[in-house]
Amino acid sequence: HQVAPADYIRAHIRTVPDWPAPGVMFRDITTLLANPRVFRVLIDQFVHRYFDARPAAIAGLDARGFIIGSVVAYELGIGFVPIRKKGKLPFATFEETYELEYGSATVEVHTDAVKPGERVVLIDDLIATGGTMLAGHKLLQRLGAEVVEVAAIVDLPELGGSARLKAAGVPVFSLVSFE
Ligand code: PRP
Ligand code: ADE
Repeated sequence: HQVAPADYIRAHIRTVPDWPAPGVMFRDITTLLANPRVFRVLIDQFVHRYFDARPAAIAGLDARGFIIGSVVAYELGIGFVPIRKKGKLPFATFEETYELEYGSATVEVHTDAVKPGERVVLIDDLIATGGTMLAGHKLLQRLGAEVVEVAAIVDLPELGGSARLKAAGVPVFSLVSFE
């Protein structure tokens, strides 16, 4: 019998305990990316999900969101918008600062990256506290984009990020979750 795509994808994510700090179960997607068959199944999941919606662009979050988001955009034949960590983008930017477990981080987007009213899907590899995805969503809203959905390979529901995004009215999609 056939294995469901989500189970196939899940089985190829490596868990590294106590990295980068004691108590953290790090969900490592490099093992998934290294396998061309699983990588294709992963990308096809997102491509099929957004094929009919015909978004104007895919936005991706620095850095792991770039790996997935750019390939999905390429396959859909639409543009890719990088949302970068502060200090990397050369033109005029909007920025959003958000809280991490320790300290804070800032992400930026070019002010002309999306035209007002354009429909955009925001992609990252993983949702933990949801801070990164929420900051990316705010940036896209400041550009006047209509965010179709924010999407990740992995959700960590115990960390509350997907619930926090949904409570903020943001549609959320993930392929697999780890309790
Ligand atoms: C990781 C991950 C997400 C974010 C999720 O990125 O790739 O972007 O954390 O955490 P959150 O939901 O609590 O915001 P990281 O900041 O480690 O950067 P990287 O992609 O450059 O490795
Ligand atoms: N980003 C935040 N928490 C993470 C985790 N547990 N695994 C991989 N990336 C993460």
